[in-house]
Amino acid sequence: MAEKILVTGGAGYIGSHCVLELLEAGYVPVVIDNFHNAIRGSDALPESLRRVEQIVHRPVLFQELDITDGAALQELFRKHQFSAVLHLAGLKAVGESVQKPLEYYRVNLTGTIRLLETMQAHGVKNIVFSSSATVYGDPKYLPLDENHPVGGCTNPYGKSKFFIEEMIRDLCKAERDWNAVLLRYFNPIGAHESGMIGEDPQGIPNNLMPYVAQVAVGRREFLSVFGNDYKTDDGTGVRDYIHVVDLAKGHVAALKKLKENCGCKIYNLGTGTGYSVLQMVQAMEKASGREIKYKVTARREGDVASCYADPALAERELGWKAAFGLDKMCEDLWRWQLQNPTGFSKN
Ligand code: WQD
Repeated sequence: MAEKILVTGGAGYIGSHCVLELLEAGYVPVVIDNFHNAIRGSDALPESLRRVEQIVHRPVLFQELDITDGAALQELFRKHQFSAVLHLAGLKAVGESVQKPLEYYRVNLTGTIRLLETMQAHGVKNIVFSSSATVYGDPKYLPLDENHPVGGCTNPYGKSKFFIEEMIRDLCKAERDWNAVLLRYFNPIGAHESGMIGEDPQGIPNNLMPYVAQVAVGRREFLSVFGNDYKTDDGTGVRDYIHVVDLAKGHVAALKKLKENCGCKIYNLGTGTGYSVLQMVQAMEKASGREIKYKVTARREGDVASCYADPALAERELGWKAAFGLDKMCEDLWRWQLQNPTGFSKN
């Protein structure tokens, strides 16, 4: 029988791509999401998941649920027999987390504790957690491997990822029947090649590529390049951008790893290649055939000069490797942006 996988935050950008890959791989995902970052579609489904249904021609099981609601979680686990959980739900805006630290710790930390407690109570002890390269803080060396010291990041969002990692590690140490894979994402961009699902930031995008895409499509006038005096080839920040479909496939590989009773494992999900802001602008101009205007402004607080992964461990132990390069990431992002100039909402 097909395995049921709970996907928390499964209506979001990364979540919806994971749900699609799970369906393609023969799993039965059950999605919970509280619509904090997702647009409602018809049939009580988030629009992102309605689109996933159209792509795979299969229904998606969905329930509106907030991970901080312990009673609702209990109810859910009574209803379904899950073999594992992909835990992606959480607040994720770095700047906002500095303004609202308690809110971030409440949702990300207590939400995760409730989830882990409920899992434990129902004997579901397999989890894949959506962590972030932000846990490395300012890199002491590059590329970043999984042994690089962690806990160095300065904002509550990043710290919440680090604290959750520590909680899960301690849990796996204390109870040997727990298995966890902590995935440290680098910078996910792009969209499914159908152009039907993609990233849909509400308000002004915080991240580079959604902003660049909105400039290309004419929704914003110009990009602000946050500093060109970093110690990089062209002075702008360098990051490891990874296609969201590659990232989603990494979750399927992680689920397989849990089957080996792996205990707690940690993997970078990146490509190993860094690109600067200006290289990204150029790649997007090529993919879109449009000019992307930009102005150089001051550095953004908390940004590091360069950050890219050593992805070798994931390749060795998960048999996973990013397949898509920069051109494909930008082409797919552009297709999504062009077909959905206002994202999932209709106006
Ligand atoms: C990339 C580069 C910017 C916007 C952040 C979080 C991380 C993760 C993803 C989220 C940097 C530059 C950006 C703009 C710019 N978490 N930039 N103009 O900073 O690597 O990671 O988002 O859930 O935790 O820290 O990604 O896309 O914001 O920035 O010049 O308008 O683009 O300075 O060099 P970042 P990003």
